[in-house]
Amino acid sequence: MPSLRESLRALPSIVGVPLPFDLNDAPENPRDLTVEWLLAAIDAGVTEPHAATLSTVDADGWPDARVLILKNVTENGAFEIATTLGSAKGLQLQNNPRCALSFHWASLARAVRIRGVAERADPATAATDFAARHPDARALVLAGAQGSIIDDTAEHERSLVEARRLVASAPDTGSSDWSVWRIAPVSVEFWQGDPSRDHLRLRYDLGADGWVHHRLSA
Ligand SMILES: Cc1cc2nc3c(=O)[nH]c(=O)nc-3n(C[C@H](O)[C@H](O)[C@H](O)COP(=O)(O)O)c2cc1C
Repeated sequence: MPSLRESLRALPSIVGVPLPFDLNDAPENPRDLTVEWLLAAIDAGVTEPHAATLSTVDADGWPDARVLILKNVTENGAFEIATTLGSAKGLQLQNNPRCALSFHWASLARAVRIRGVAERADPATAATDFAARHPDARALVLAGAQGSIIDDTAEHERSLVEARRLVASAPDTGSSDWSVWRIAPVSVEFWQGDPSRDHLRLRYDLGADGWVHHRLSA
């Protein structure tokens, strides 16, 4: 039986079929390319193309990362996400808004990585986002603090049943814990895998005079 190392070594990587990407056509602003790549991923049928890894830093300087859903890219290029204020990431963003967001679309051999500063959107935006969520997702938020330790499974299930009942009987019930964040990017890197391994890396950096972009060595 092969070892895990052997099994991992035998796996192919960067097997996606690259889409055309001409660096000479790179737009001035990373927003346009972000939207183009997101729409291309949707069109190509990528599974959950809006799933991204959000990395934050805690009060002790430890990095932390988890997957979440991208809600939108705003007109001025901010990446919108939503979560609870009391979760680890919610607390970390309130303490240190510097964060990173990364996407990987394996079937297209594409990845995008963003570094930026998160700003909390107004409560009305959070309320609108919360109302648009699936009833079960709303119930989960209403049932208890995200990330809190479940000592008593029966109690947890009771709270969930109660919260589901509340959502069914009063669908307008909101949550002051729900928050929307807009991550204003300071750098955005687009990575397009190449079968020859001369991958294309294009990084946009926000400077005093606006965005500049460079090709990076793979
Ligand atoms: C595909 C996918 C989508 C997710 N979307 C969200 C989301 O939009 N918001 C969120 O708070 N958690 C989302 N989660 C759960 C997070 O990954 C994480 O478990 C949770 O937010 C707690 O993270 P934290 O303890 O670091 O705050 C998602 C998980 C997966 C796998």
